[in-house]
Amino acid sequence: MQTQEQKKKNQEVSTGEQSLGADFDYAPSIESTDIVKINPKNKLFIGGKFVDSAEKKYFKTENPATGETLAELTEATAKDVDSAVKAARKAFGPWSKLSGQERGRYLYRIARLIQERSRELAVLETLDNGKPIRESRDIDIPLVAAHFFYYAGWADKLQYAVPGAKSAPKPLGVVGQIIPWNFPLLMAAWKIAPALACGNTVVLKPAETTSLSCLLLAEIIQEAGLPEGVVNIVTGAGETGAAIVNHPDINKVAFTGSTDVGKIIARSVANTDKKLTLELGGKSAHIIYEDAAIDQAVEGVINGIFFNQGHVCCAGSRLLLEESIAETVVEKLKARMEKIRVGNPLDKNTDVGAINSAAEHVKIKKLIETGKTEGGEYFEPSSVNLPAKGYYHKPCFFNRVSSAFTLSRVEVFGPVLAISTFRTTQEAISKANDTQYGLAAGIWSEKGSKIHKTAAALKAGVIWANTYNKFDPTSPFGGFNESGYGREGGRHGLFPYLDI
Ligand code: NAI
Ligand code: MG
Repeated sequence: MQTQEQKKKNQEVSTGEQSLGADFDYAPSIESTDIVKINPKNKLFIGGKFVDSAEKKYFKTENPATGETLAELTEATAKDVDSAVKAARKAFGPWSKLSGQERGRYLYRIARLIQERSRELAVLETLDNGKPIRESRDIDIPLVAAHFFYYAGWADKLQYAVPGAKSAPKPLGVVGQIIPWNFPLLMAAWKIAPALACGNTVVLKPAETTSLSCLLLAEIIQEAGLPEGVVNIVTGAGETGAAIVNHPDINKVAFTGSTDVGKIIARSVANTDKKLTLELGGKSAHIIYEDAAIDQAVEGVINGIFFNQGHVCCAGSRLLLEESIAETVVEKLKARMEKIRVGNPLDKNTDVGAINSAAEHVKIKKLIETGKTEGGEYFEPSSVNLPAKGYYHKPCFFNRVSSAFTLSRVEVFGPVLAISTFRTTQEAISKANDTQYGLAAGIWSEKGSKIHKTAAALKAGVIWANTYNKFDPTSPFGGFNESGYGREGGRHGLFPYLDI
């Protein structure tokens, strides 16, 4: 529940935003937060119960839209992680012996409860993460439920998932899952649903700035009557994550986050027989050919880089324009960006919400300074104003960025686009592939043959044509090179959780 003070703060943010409407008028429509009850002090979810840590150490999570503290979270120690792993181990035998149909039933129940409490989940996600309520409500939470429904359906069909299997393959055991803050509940669903469908048990750690929706998921899991210990949720930061990774009784680690931490984890499990999947960073190319439907492509670019404040691993952060249309596209982009509404994430009209944390805000600003020093042409919309409080950044781009520039190589993870041009299909392909990453790419063209030729030559796990940032539980997702390995989603998303 929000305090009167928090309510007043939210209103202040929205009033500030209202006055930015130089070019466009709209009435703010603020989502009520009354539906959400936040515990001031939160426990760990171990063995089906909310429990205190032995150490009772806490840290704060805040609302990045205001900078206000939302709640305190337990910092789980190695001892707490050990309790969680023990609970998961104890639950593994009975859970893995249940019929697939039974396991599926629990997953369906969780999916339905998520749907029932979707408004509450959406508001909480927006409060803790800073993403626009429209995104949590219309994209994230529906996809969370969809992932549970989708993998519920696989639970009794595992023998058909793996080509050549004569019976259902066996689960791996206890799985340690570490997720980031950009899509908190969705990443939890991507991880928990397939693991459970395959018969594994889980110890999951949400990111330290966005743990609240996972704790609400723990309540839902309890309400669904999932056997104790099948899912355990421990909060904390890097040390807690490392305690999961290094626990000797973990059979598999699934990680989504930065490439740097992914490398640390890969080294940690290198001398063990733990299985590992990594979903890491990206610097994805978004290619527009001259024969593309330009206005649609511009919308695609906007969605590709400014969706979720640009905190998206597969963000289309490098825009490659065919030279003949470059100027037109850049002008249209500028005009479109003037109309983006940045502000109170709880306002249903908001397009771009708050940057998730002060640290990310600093990182983005530093990279923009680097971009300016290196000499790209910087643009930010002049009619967009930012609320006085909280962490906000204007959507922006650098034009005429060469491939040597930092902005072409380093993941910003914010609303910052790097634009360059190409003359031939071959040049578009080689520029797109000139990256240490390989997570996603986008292609805009009216010619099917050109799309196929380009897509076949791109080294990226996901390739969108004439659209961008579309997600569905049936499609596998994952990268090449420094974007990681293993796939999540679809039939392929079962493989990392099965002993094949
Ligand atoms: P991070 O990689 O440190 O955090 C991701 C998760 O890993 C969090 O739950 C964190 O507590 C945990 N973690 C941190 N250190 C760990 C360790 N040694 N062992 C086990 N778990 C550990 O990412 P951070 O610091 O939040 O963001 C920094 C940058 O990373 C971002 O600016 C962005 O560029 C990138 N990033 C990419 C993501 C993606 O989806 N590709 C997601 C999050 C961050
Ligand atoms: Mg937070």
